[in-house]
Amino acid sequence: MTASNDATAHLVHPTSGDREWWRSAVIYQIYPRSWADSDGDGIGDLPGITARLPYLKALGVDAVWLSPFYTSPQADAGYDVADYRDIDPLFGTLADADELIRAAHANDLRVVVDLVPNHTSDEHAWFRAALTAAPGSPERDRYIFRDGRGADGGEPPNDWQSVFGGDAWTRITEADGTPGQWYLHLFDRKQPDLNWENPVVRSEFEDILRFWLDRGVDGFRVDVAHGLVKAPGLPDWTGPMNMIDLTEADTRPPMWDQDGVHDIYRDWRKILDSYPGERAMCAEAWVEPPERLARYVRDDEFQQAFNFDFLVTPWRADDLRAAIAQSYRANDAVGAPTTWVLSNHDVVRHATRLALPVGEPRPNGIFATDPQPDAELGLRRARAATTLMLALPGGAYVYYGEELGLPEHTTLPDEVRQDPTYQRTEHKEAGRDGCRIPMPWEKDSASYGFGPGEHTWLPQPESYGALAVDQQDDVPGSTLELYRTLLQTRRDLRLGEGSTTQLDLGPDIVGYDIAAADATVRVILNLGEADYELPSDATVLVSSAPEIAGVLPTDAAVWLQV
Ligand code: NOJ
Repeated sequence: MTASNDATAHLVHPTSGDREWWRSAVIYQIYPRSWADSDGDGIGDLPGITARLPYLKALGVDAVWLSPFYTSPQADAGYDVADYRDIDPLFGTLADADELIRAAHANDLRVVVDLVPNHTSDEHAWFRAALTAAPGSPERDRYIFRDGRGADGGEPPNDWQSVFGGDAWTRITEADGTPGQWYLHLFDRKQPDLNWENPVVRSEFEDILRFWLDRGVDGFRVDVAHGLVKAPGLPDWTGPMNMIDLTEADTRPPMWDQDGVHDIYRDWRKILDSYPGERAMCAEAWVEPPERLARYVRDDEFQQAFNFDFLVTPWRADDLRAAIAQSYRANDAVGAPTTWVLSNHDVVRHATRLALPVGEPRPNGIFATDPQPDAELGLRRARAATTLMLALPGGAYVYYGEELGLPEHTTLPDEVRQDPTYQRTEHKEAGRDGCRIPMPWEKDSASYGFGPGEHTWLPQPESYGALAVDQQDDVPGSTLELYRTLLQTRRDLRLGEGSTTQLDLGPDIVGYDIAAADATVRVILNLGEADYELPSDATVLVSSAPEIAGVLPTDAAVWLQV
């Protein structure tokens, strides 16, 4: 087994060296309502998180990202914010947030919070004021209100559809009781889009950034970062609303990836840089191709942007190699790290997704009546995918519970579904509830140790009992121990800062040498049907398959010392 004769021709990423923390950090995403419930109401909370921080320290991650915990009517699980400077009582108080930040820092964990700037809740004070103010007023101008089309303005101002299904416009009733203007909401009708052309909106969010930076947060994950600025005149758009190729300006959807968004992030970056301690922000931007995404991580904008291209790549060797090489090429061109991710609160968990038919469109959730994915196959591939991902230099995100190999809940009763996409698509899409199930900590406790109560805001599947933390802790070969070993080795050898050379090991084998400061590690993933023979003298550092005796089975990955 050798690298290509001309290994440098396959160098897909040079080393980043020992630089800022965010270039190589592994960040653990906590979905606050689903991680740890301290008070028994069935919904996770900030004190619950604080109490469990030592678990994350032992897992070996560098930081936590918390999905929104702000005051919110929870129409989109907190991505509908009514007050950006306070905590929803469901999750605790500002004092609880301060304590969480303090305790995280005491455990050497940085804290990234979620910022939701594209829209507020319709229960935000600004939107309430807009409803009672007149058309054309400064209160209305903080959102995107327009007169309707057609006779009596009874038709929406344009044909945009909501990402969640249905029209992207809702008509209001004016204060005098007459049918009134329409407002834009790219998501739920309870999430009105802000008008980022208005300087008041800009200064408000700069102030919100400072509010949280002053409280000590290390960074922000920025929601819908590609959506804040809309094309002038809000022209009709009949194309798809999800991730599409945005290369050509004349076919670019008028609501996504408009050039004007970058000015906002340049202003924010100056604010972050005015604070000590390398504060960072990560863009949630479903933007293709990687060159377009890389514009968000130019050196005066975001430090990170989720690599969703990698997340959606089909489980095929050619596709994975191409996605990895393209990501590095695009990011290296602007001097930014690549930020790997396989799961989050918006997609089917990768322990389930990777068992779906390869190459078919990614579903938004899975119904109990759908063909049920093979759990064993999904877990095997998920472990292999993570073993590949955590070898790769750059940053990486781990979604809560993936370290346990949690599958999607694919048999949720429809009556418990809460994701607005289920209703808005008229039940055509199951939605994202199945990847947001409360975390199992102890097999034999009520709610699998999620909290002191029996009840959880979404029911946990029975399969979560055997996957609970206490069932995997210290158990050789468990997924939890696999993650711990991967993270520890990655940290010890500083793989996140290394260089990446692609190897020619056969059409179905994905392989790289990661040359880090003190060692070179070879990562090999077998996507062929046959076993792949490992060199007899290979030292196995860690393997996704529990036992490998000289051969790497299909859908398994390994790190070798070279
Ligand atoms: C992206 C978030 O990740 C998702 O959960 C949310 O529904 C939308 N943005 C709208 O805020």
